[in-house]
Amino acid sequence: MLIFKTQNELVSHLNSVSNTATSIGFVPTMGALHQGHLSLLKEALQNNSLVVISIFVNPTQFNNPEDLAKYPRTLTSDIEKIKTVSDKIIVYAPSVDDIYEGKTISQHFDFDGLENQMEGKFRPGHFDGVGTIVKRLFEIVQPTNAYFGEKDFQQLQIVKKMVQKTKLPVTVLGCPIFREPNGLAMSSRNERLSEKERNEAAIIFKTLLQTQKLFKTKSSNEVTQIVVKTFENYKNFELEYFQIADEATLLPCIRKSKTKKYRAFIAVFVNNVRLIDTISLN
Ligand code: PAF
Repeated sequence: MLIFKTQNELVSHLNSVSNTATSIGFVPTMGALHQGHLSLLKEALQNNSLVVISIFVNPTQFNNPEDLAKYPRTLTSDIEKIKTVSDKIIVYAPSVDDIYEGKTISQHFDFDGLENQMEGKFRPGHFDGVGTIVKRLFEIVQPTNAYFGEKDFQQLQIVKKMVQKTKLPVTVLGCPIFREPNGLAMSSRNERLSEKERNEAAIIFKTLLQTQKLFKTKSSNEVTQIVVKTFENYKNFELEYFQIADEATLLPCIRKSKTKKYRAFIAVFVNNVRLIDTISLN
């Protein structure tokens, strides 16, 4: 398995195989890999002649220094997990300096307002950081197709917008959320939950499933009130936001329209660990 720590080494390898690599599938990650990431790799392998995964905990997308410091860094076990999918996958695991070359700052982006909703409201600067790193990685890897999990649906829409605005020649694809047997969306942050918290966190997906049913007959506002009430009964959980929004614009649903696609979005703190999830409503 090829593992590159610098963009120079990676790019020179990709150039050397460019005659035979007809398409490059790319999976950007921050490591601490789980089945969800591996499913993205499998999808990429099915549709591309060469697959690259990046493992890089990107400092500019963390608005909370404690979250950055505590983010799991598990390169050795990540590599073992990648090998279980295929030893032909190329790993790019750069240092902060290799990516930011001494200037660890974000570029400022205009994502046509997508950045001002939900995660954008609660994590100032987060999407500038995501846009900066994803654009940088796309420029280095030059993928044909890039794969992102739908758990971070707002991120997926923002990356699509960035590609549309910068005209980078890459197709951005969203892949279904992978869940624990109890329904909890897989996330590297789940590692920080105790077993009890992990079990209790099943309420997040249960609530989203209930939302899907309720939204057939109730307004967005009524559904939101029910969700807020549900979480009042869970003392270890702090609901940061629940929002029903238009999938395309991410603007809150004020009055339902039959021509729009809606999605529920949720962010919950479980003892300082921030979990997000989402579900399509129609
Ligand atoms: O979703 C993630 O893991 C990160 O936000 C990404 C896309 C790898 C950028 O650092």
